[in-house]
Amino acid sequence: MSLAVTLSRAQEGVAAPQVVVEVHLSGGLPSTSIVGLPEAAVREARDRVRVAIQNTAFEYPNRRVTVNLAPAELPKDGGRFDLAIALGILAAGSQVPRERLDDCEFLGELALSGELRAVPGILPALIRARRSGRRIVVPRANAAEAALIGEGDVLLADSLAEVCAWLSGQADLAGPESADFYSMPSCGPDMLDIRGQLQARRALEIAAAGGHHLLLIGPPGTGKTMLAERLPGILPPMTESEALESCAIRSLSGEDIDPRCWRRRPFRAPHHTASGVALVGGGSSPRPGEISLAHNGVLFLDELPEFSRHVLEVLREPLESGRIVISRAARQSTFPAEFQLVAAMNPCPCGYAGDPLHECRCTPDQVQRYRGRISGPLLDRIDLCVEVPRVPIADLAAARGPHDDDSATVRQRVIAAREKALLRAGQANAELSVVNLERDCALPHAEREWLQTSLDKLGASARAYHRILRVARTIADLEGGTGCVEQGHLAEALHYRRF
Ligand SMILES: Nc1ncnc2c1ncn2[C@@H]1O[C@H](COP(=O)(O)OP(=O)(O)OP(=O)(O)O)[C@@H](O)[C@H]1O
Ligand SMILES: [Mg+2]
Repeated sequence: MSLAVTLSRAQEGVAAPQVVVEVHLSGGLPSTSIVGLPEAAVREARDRVRVAIQNTAFEYPNRRVTVNLAPAELPKDGGRFDLAIALGILAAGSQVPRERLDDCEFLGELALSGELRAVPGILPALIRARRSGRRIVVPRANAAEAALIGEGDVLLADSLAEVCAWLSGQADLAGPESADFYSMPSCGPDMLDIRGQLQARRALEIAAAGGHHLLLIGPPGTGKTMLAERLPGILPPMTESEALESCAIRSLSGEDIDPRCWRRRPFRAPHHTASGVALVGGGSSPRPGEISLAHNGVLFLDELPEFSRHVLEVLREPLESGRIVISRAARQSTFPAEFQLVAAMNPCPCGYAGDPLHECRCTPDQVQRYRGRISGPLLDRIDLCVEVPRVPIADLAAARGPHDDDSATVRQRVIAAREKALLRAGQANAELSVVNLERDCALPHAEREWLQTSLDKLGASARAYHRILRVARTIADLEGGTGCVEQGHLAEALHYRRF
C-alpha cells in the first residue's frame, strides 16, 4: 500500500489540536503537492523535506507524492510538521516500518542536513499528546520544555536518521531527564527586607491567602514596589497542572522557561507605556499578552494612573471572567488570564498629598484628575486598598521586630488558610461564587445588620458587599480554627475598602 498516516499537532492559542498527515504515492510524473490549505511555510516544507530525506541516505520517491494535512481549516504555520511529513513519505514508500507510527506523534522542523530543529511553543502539544495517551517525538533542542512533562511520554531525537533507526527497532530514543521540581530554591526577594509597614504587610498576606486584588497607595520611596515584588514568594506553589498551564503560555510567547523555578507563580510587571495589545494579547496570529503570562500568578501595575485609561478599561472583562477572547476575522483565540492584580500609585501627581512632612504642590483639580484616571468600576474590583505611609528613618536602621516574619513563615500561614478555602469550596476566597458565599460566610443577625448599615452609609455597590464578605472570610481563615466570620473580621475587611 502506498498510503501512510502520521500524527502531529498544530498550535492555536494554548490549544494544540491534532493534525493528521496523510501521504499518498501514485504513478505519474514525479511531483510533490501539499494540500490542506497550508500557509507558505508549509509549502516550503516540501523542499526541506526532500533534501533532508536525500541527505539521510534514503531515497525520495520518484513518483507523484500527495501530502494532506487534515483538518484543513486549522492554521498551519511553521516547520513543525516537517518530521511527520518526512516519516509519512518514507513509510508510504516502505522505507521505514509503520508499526510504531500509530501510537506516536511527531513534531520537528528539519534542517537540510536531516537534523531536527527546535519548534517554538511546544509545551501545549506535549501536554495534549500526553492526555491522549500517545508518545511524542520532539527535537532534542526542546529538551528543557520536554523535561517538565517527565520521562516516558516524550522522546528526544537529534535527526531524522535517529527517528528512522528507532522506528526500525535498531536504536532507542531517550526521554528527557525529568526536572527536579521540589529542590527548587525559593528564589526571589524576602519579606524580611521590609521595615515597618505592618498594615501593608498584613494586607499583602490577606491578598495572598485569599487571592484578592490589592492596591497600594503612598508617597514615593515607601516600599510599594518592594511589597508587590514579594507577593509571589508568599503565595502557595502552583500545582503541577497550574504550572504546566502557565508554562504553556510562556512557551507560546517564546519565553525561556527555567525548570528550577517553574512552580513559582509568575510575576509580570508591564511598564505603564505598554500598549493594549502588549497587555491583553493580540496580533494577526494572536499571541498571549501580559495578563495571560500572569495566569495563576501576579500582574503588577506600578504607577497605576500612568497607564492609559483605555488600557485599564480592557482589564475589566478578564478581571471578572479569568480569560480573554481575541477575535480576528479568520478565527478566535482564547487565552486564560486568571491573575491576581496588584497595583501601586502615589496619592497625587507630586506624590505627597497627606504627607505631614512634605507640602503637596498639586491643586485639588490635579489630584482629582489623577485619581479619576482609574475608573470606579476598576476600583470596585479591587478588594484590598491600603495606605503605605513613610517609614521613619530610625525604623529602617532598627533591628528586626517581633512581628517581622520572613517569607517562608508567612507562606506557611497563607498555605494553611488557602487549604481551608479549598476544602470548603474548592477555590480561593476571592473566586467564591455568590451562592457559596452565602453558605460559607453566613452572618449572625447582628453582624448582618451592622454591615448593612455601614455599607448603606458609604453608598457601597452590591459587588462591594460581596467582596467585603470574601475578604472577611479570608481574614477569619488566617486566624486559625474553623471559626465563622465575626464582626472584627468584617470591620477589618471594610477598612481595606475604598469608596
Ligand atoms: N519599608 C521599607 N523597608 C525597607 N526599605 C525600604 C522601605 N521602603 C522603601 N525602602 C527603600 O527604598 C527603596 C525604594 O522603595 P520602593 O521602590 O518600593 O518605593 P515605592 O513606594 O515603590 O516608590 P515610588 O512611589 O517612587 O515608586 C527600596 O529599594 C528600599 O531600599
Ligand atoms: Mg514604585
